[in-house]
Amino acid sequence: DFIKEVSGIRVLEKKLREKLNLDHVVVVPGDSDELPWVKQEMGRACVHYLKGILESNNTIAITGGTTMAAVAEMMTPLTGAPDCLFVPARGGLGERVENQANTICVEMARKAKGDYRLLYVPDPLSEDTYHSITSEPSIKEILDLIKNSDTVIHGIGNALTMAERRRTPPEQVEKIKQGHGVGEAFGYYFNQQGEIVHKARTVGLQLEDLTDSQQVIAVAGGESKARAIASYFKPGKSNVLITDEGAAQKLLREE
Ligand code: F6P
Repeated sequence: DFIKEVSGIRVLEKKLREKLNLDHVVVVPGDSDELPWVKQEMGRACVHYLKGILESNNTIAITGGTTMAAVAEMMTPLTGAPDCLFVPARGGLGERVENQANTICVEMARKAKGDYRLLYVPDPLSEDTYHSITSEPSIKEILDLIKNSDTVIHGIGNALTMAERRRTPPEQVEKIKQGHGVGEAFGYYFNQQGEIVHKARTVGLQLEDLTDSQQVIAVAGGESKARAIASYFKPGKSNVLITDEGAAQKLLREE
């Protein structure tokens, strides 16, 4: 039974890799919507994958959220890649402190025995403040580190869930609804066709900063996130997905 289960998972990974046109997919058994420890298993799988790709002195940019918090929770010393630097990919995005990229960055670095740099910028920002803040030398320095990071690890969420969690102003929520937003990542909201329907104005990594020379790893699972994951991967900005069986099966069933 165990063998059967493992080979079933391997088939899911292969099908998903082909469907989403990715370099690598990891599916962990279970559905994190139903079983909280499945999220930790995604965290563990992410740490395992990282250990295979990271090199010494690498810079890793991360986003926030509970899934990323699970990655931090499962982190262990990166003995094969010493002196890695962790940075938040973008500002706080209105998340609770424990779910903010800054907080997760500190824990990840501590457990990995690496270092971290943080972004102290309020968000969202007005157009004017955005421009003056991003030209501050101390902020600019960290923004450069973020833009030139070797690896990016990020969560994906449901558009309306995220808009609510971030206490997004009603007119912006309306815009996301009108645009039929289904998924969210890096503060960008996507519709089912993968088009951007809204973008939160925060400093840090912008979608267009992601390049092919980077490893961009999405970590997201749960059947309820299947459509969100599909919407994000339509434009195809990440090359690796770490997910669970709940999301994987639903993703393969749709379309
Ligand atoms: O707010 C940061 C973030 O990574 C979002 O971009 C993403 O939608 C969300 O968190 C995922 O959160 P969770 O893992 O808690 O579902």
